[in-house]
Amino acid sequence: MKITLSVIKADIGSIGGHLAPSDELFHTVRRRMHADGEPLVLDSYVGSTGDDIALLMSHRRGEGDAAIHKLAWDIFVAGTAVAKQQGLYGAGQDLLRESFSGNVRGMGPAVAEMEIEERASEPFLFFAADKTDPGAFNLPLYLAFADPMNTPGLLLAPKMASGFRFVIMDVMRIDADHVIELNAPEELYDIAALLRDPERYVVESVWSRATGEQAVAVATSRLHNIAGKYTGKDDPVMLVRTQMNFPATGEVLAPWATGHFVGGGMRGSHQLPIMPVPLGTGTSWFDGPPLVTCAAFSMHDGRFTEPIDTFAHPFWNTVREHVANKAMEMRRQGFVGAAMLPMAELEYTGITEKLAILEKRFVTRAPAAAPAA
Ligand code: 13P
Ligand code: 13P
Ligand code: MG
Ligand code: MG
Repeated sequence: MKITLSVIKADIGSIGGHLAPSDELFHTVRRRMHADGEPLVLDSYVGSTGDDIALLMSHRRGEGDAAIHKLAWDIFVAGTAVAKQQGLYGAGQDLLRESFSGNVRGMGPAVAEMEIEERASEPFLFFAADKTDPGAFNLPLYLAFADPMNTPGLLLAPKMASGFRFVIMDVMRIDADHVIELNAPEELYDIAALLRDPERYVVESVWSRATGEQAVAVATSRLHNIAGKYTGKDDPVMLVRTQMNFPATGEVLAPWATGHFVGGGMRGSHQLPIMPVPLGTGTSWFDGPPLVTCAAFSMHDGRFTEPIDTFAHPFWNTVREHVANKAMEMRRQGFVGAAMLPMAELEYTGITEKLAILEKRFVTRAPAAAPAA
């Protein structure tokens, strides 16, 4: 049976700065999802990660469906009203347009969707990250789908032996979607050459080459490109199908033990290691470190089981300690060099204005007179 999985996520307001949605906001969104979603969706799940709320829905209406997108938009608008009533910070932050126009893509919310032929057992993972951008998924996806050092299935599972196709988007090009398709393992070095620059080249989807099935869908929106001004980091979401012809769940989770450095954190302007945390965890410390949650589901006829909170397992306590130490180490160098994102990635215009003023104060020093012969 063909089923569409849609995740639509937005930051519509949070307590105490950019920390976490209030209970009232979260429960309003969940109530609306269940009530208003009833005629449209087969099942739904509402989760929060940092200050973001994500709606996961299963339905039969295909990708980019206007009714599903309008449902999510209306729920976020209703939530924004509650956020305003409670005086939450950044109420309606990710709703960049006044009214809905057919599809939430380009309107602020992050979207990851895939239409699949549901397997008899359909295990999948729903990732959500806060205080970072979609390039944060590049390294974990490369390791899970292209590197036998991480994924023994590439050597052991016959259906995985022919590798995976990566669709990668150049998110700096905002005139239109610029994408390239590259095959692992033959084009591994080309894939790596792009993925080394996660602020620009972002994995959008991954496909099985043996069967043509889609394994991964990533939300690739870049809010500050859409809005033309600082609006917070994109805080991406991702769906990953696992097992059988795809990497095992553990092969997809394992790369998150690295705590790799990603763009984000305070004012969306730093390089900090990403920390895997339990579902519903809010943000703290330095508006970071960036967070990632992962809910594992099985699905049958579009109905979800309860989620398994994968990063709540005791294993990840050690990882979190490691990431916290890495984060503090990087922060010791404050604003200098690698600790902050490069100029083009800074999401505030203040520094550009400052540099323009300072530029006028630079003087050209007259060359020293040549020594007399
Ligand atoms: P099962 O034999 O329990 O299905 O596990 C296979 C597997 O993918 C382990 O990584
Ligand atoms: P969010 O994008 O999660 O709202 O964070 C904004 C920010 O810059 C926090 O410092
Ligand atoms: Mg926020
Ligand atoms: Mg956020």
